[in-house]
Amino acid sequence: MPVRLLFVCLGNICRSPLAEAAFRAEADRIGLDVEIDSAGTGDWHVGQPPDPRAQAVARREGVDIGALRARQVTKADFHQFDHVVALDFDILRDLRAIQPESARASLSLLLDHVPGREGQSVSDPYEGGKAHFEKSWADVSEAAKALAKTLASAR
Ligand code: 4NP
Repeated sequence: MPVRLLFVCLGNICRSPLAEAAFRAEADRIGLDVEIDSAGTGDWHVGQPPDPRAQAVARREGVDIGALRARQVTKADFHQFDHVVALDFDILRDLRAIQPESARASLSLLLDHVPGREGQSVSDPYEGGKAHFEKSWADVSEAAKALAKTLASAR
């Protein structure tokens, strides 16, 4: 059985598609069987591909995220995934508010999985420049490595 993970940010066009891509690459590298998706708490970009700046950062890292399409997180996601992972603290708070009581998924903050970075957020790069997107990639790939290692050792 694959481990099922959902990464959630605000628009699902910048940070969570990058987290999805970084985690998929790391899971492939270490041979962890996973099913991964991403979503946003907002609905402004539903159906759209990732932001061109996020696509460019991913492409430079050898990952094509152009086929991903944004969607909004739902209550059902808490039943369908094992882990729902928030990219920042505001998202975590919003997800706590919609998480059904009977949810099977564990809900966590992405950088809580990185020793020494507990409580930190992957900051929103949407209004920023290229450097912000590079920082987002660095954050999500560091977290992907740590989280994949934890999940692999729990198997
Ligand atoms: P994301 O970035 O949450 O990392 O996908 C954003 C994308 C769009 C908006 C905000 C953040 N927006 O306000 O439209």
